[in-house]
Parts: sequence; C-alpha cells; structure tokens
Amino acid sequence: MPSCSRALIGSLVLLAVAVTSAADFPSVDKLPSHPGLPDPLVMLNGEKVATPEQWTQQRRPELKALFQHYMYGYLPAAPEKITSTVEVEDAKYFGGKATKKQVSIKYHPDAPAINLLLIVPNQRTQPAGVFIGINFCGNHTVVKDPAIPLPTTWIYKSCPGCETEKATDAGRGGQAEVWNAEQTIDRGYALATFYNGDLDPDFPDFTNGVHPHYLKPGQTTPKSDDWGAVAAWAWGAQRVVDYLYTNKDIDRERIALVGHSRLGKATLLAGALDERIKLIIPLQAGCGGTAPSRGKVGESVKQINDRFPHWFDDEFTQFNERPDRLPFDQNCLVALCAPRPVLFANAVEDTWANPDGQFEVLKAAAPVYRFLKAGDLGAEHPPEVGKLLDSQLGYFIRGGKHSMTKEDWLAFLAFADKHFGKPTGK
Ligand code: GCU
Repeated sequence: MPSCSRALIGSLVLLAVAVTSAADFPSVDKLPSHPGLPDPLVMLNGEKVATPEQWTQQRRPELKALFQHYMYGYLPAAPEKITSTVEVEDAKYFGGKATKKQVSIKYHPDAPAINLLLIVPNQRTQPAGVFIGINFCGNHTVVKDPAIPLPTTWIYKSCPGCETEKATDAGRGGQAEVWNAEQTIDRGYALATFYNGDLDPDFPDFTNGVHPHYLKPGQTTPKSDDWGAVAAWAWGAQRVVDYLYTNKDIDRERIALVGHSRLGKATLLAGALDERIKLIIPLQAGCGGTAPSRGKVGESVKQINDRFPHWFDDEFTQFNERPDRLPFDQNCLVALCAPRPVLFANAVEDTWANPDGQFEVLKAAAPVYRFLKAGDLGAEHPPEVGKLLDSQLGYFIRGGKHSMTKEDWLAFLAFADKHFGKPTGK
C-alpha cells in the first residue's frame, strides 16, 4: 500500500510528531494524495513507526487526533463522574434464566440520561462477559416486556410501533428477532443495550441529545471539528462501559460492543478510542465505518456527507471529491483496535456497504497486528458465505440483505467464545 511519498515527506516534516489540536493540522490542499489505503505504520510526517512503543506513544495518539479532526469530530473527555440508578430489577427474567435491570445512567446534570437494559445470565460461575449493543428503536423493541419504558424522544419512522416519530406500546418486542437476547443469555453472555437516540436523535441538528451540553461557553453553533452523531453514539457506548465497570456481575475483560450499520460506524470508533472495549463487532457498517473511504463500490464520502450531514464533522466534507487526500483510511481505525479482536460482518446483497472493500480494509490493518505480535487476518480472500473466519481480525459474510439476524448473532457468539473463551457454569 502506498504511504507518504518521499517528495511530500519534506513538506510535512515540520509537523509535530504527535499532533493533538486542530491548529496543528494542514488544510486539505496541503495533504498528500494517497491513492490506496495509507500505511497505518507511517506517521503523518512520513516517518516509519519503528517500535511498539512508538506505535503506542506517538502514532496511536496521532491517528486518534487525525480521525477526530478530519472525520468524526472531537469527543469530549470522559465525565469525571457518572451516576447510575437501577430503576427496575427482575431476578427471574426469561423464566428464571437471567436477571434484568433497567439502569438510568447520568453523565451530565442537564443532558438526557442513557437508559440501559441489562440482562445477565443467572447460571454462571464467574462474572459474565457482555455484549453492549446500540439499538435503533428503543429498549422496548429488544424484548417484549411491558415494564420497559418507551423512549420519550424522537424515534425513526421505520421503527416498529412508531407513530408520528414517537414510540408506542405497539413496538414492544418488535425487534426481538434482531437482538435474539435469550440466545445470548443461553450462551452465557449478558446483553447491555441502549437506544442511540438517548445520545443524539438522528437528524441534522445540534440542539438536542448530548451535543448542546458540551458547547464551549458562549458557543452556539458547532465548529468544523466538533463531534457529529456517530461520535456521540460512540461516546454513549463508552459511558455504558463506565457503568459496567461499577457492576460486579460483569467481567471487565470480556466487554464486546456490537452495532449495525450507522451504529456499526459508532462501534468501530468507540472500539478504536477505548481500550476497555475488548472485542469489536461492526456489522455492515459500510462507508464511514468499515468500508474504505477511497472505495469505488457502494456509498462514497460525498454521498454520505450529502445525505447525512450530521453524522461526521464539517471537516470531512472537504474530502467529498478528494478522499485520496484523507491522511488515513478505515484500516487505520481498525489498527487502533490492535491488539484486540475485531470482527467485520456482512451480507451478500448489501453491496452499498462494500463487503469486499471491507475485507481489503482488514488486510491493510493486519500489518499493525503483526507488528505488535497480536495475531493476523490469516487469509488472502474472504471466507465462503456463512463461514466465520475467526482470526484476531475476523470476517463473516452471510447470504441476504442489510439487517441484523440470528445467524449474525451466532457468528458473534462463536467469535466471542473463540477470543474470550467459552463462558463457564452454564
Ligand atoms: C444508509 C447509509 C449507510 C448506513 C445505513 C444505515 O444506507 O447510506 O451509510 O450505514 O443507512 O445506518 O442503515
């Protein structure tokens, strides 16, 4: 893969080694063109990363800052304190197999709470590994349970039971076959799920959800590198990790994060930025997530920015016609997850998300895993349809369309068993 060409290295050499603020970054015209996926082991100034320490101390912080500056926007620091309140507890869930808790997580006095639905298997000899799942339609759609409160904020028109962009009782359990919660419990894992709209309802404005609460004093509109919706959803997943760290039923070493599509983009971002997330599963996340921004199949940077201007920051629009100028591609975001396992999951008919391009992204992240002696992709080509490649960088593609299904979950569970070890005591 091409990296900074030598001719351009000279002009970039003056850049600080680890740039951390917008002022340090060149404008798009001064960035070199990388026609292929950039080498994650080459610093912005052209220097090759020589040691694992240099990767950890210089290149990782640099890449984190680059992704935030040019694409997702800067995420605020973690709150000093979160508070959590268990609002409902049921120790005999799923016929006694599990304990359900509805937990309200507050991270800011004025911002909306994150409403977490946590279901933990009862039969176990150790704290449970957990799948955090960001959901699209509200916790009440994940399982059919009248005790789960409906979201009071906006929801997508396509969600079950949605009436004039609000949740109704008719939506209860409407996504049970997407989430397959009982299957996860039967396999010995907990499920912790929350609605993305708790952090940011998904439409182009900056006035609701978390965003207005993190404006600088006197600021009324977002700056060009302020965080977008994908970053807000990722940040929400991090706050759920904050809470799970306080819960003794959960094993901190076995925290997985799953998200589909736009929420898969958030999943990969959260995994890249937060090492507490030990296993990362973006499903059909496509452009702005797991597909190359330079890809020629499926959605382009311009198409995503035009249709969803609030998902990324405004800096990212400068690359609409020039994705080759991005000083990274999504392989570098995967590389930030090293040494932790990452599984890209896809569906054959979902060409919009560029499944083959995603495999190339994993290939171009693998040098970092090898450099850190953290495993590999271990394949030249995608596995057969329906067969899981369960390497440290894993890949799965099933038949069918853009959706999250029971078959996807079986792959997620097998991947978790492989990398976490099978849960004991079931
Ligand atoms: C659109 C969008 C994709 C996104 C998807 C989804 O298709 O173009 O980028 O992943 O919505 O979130 O369902």
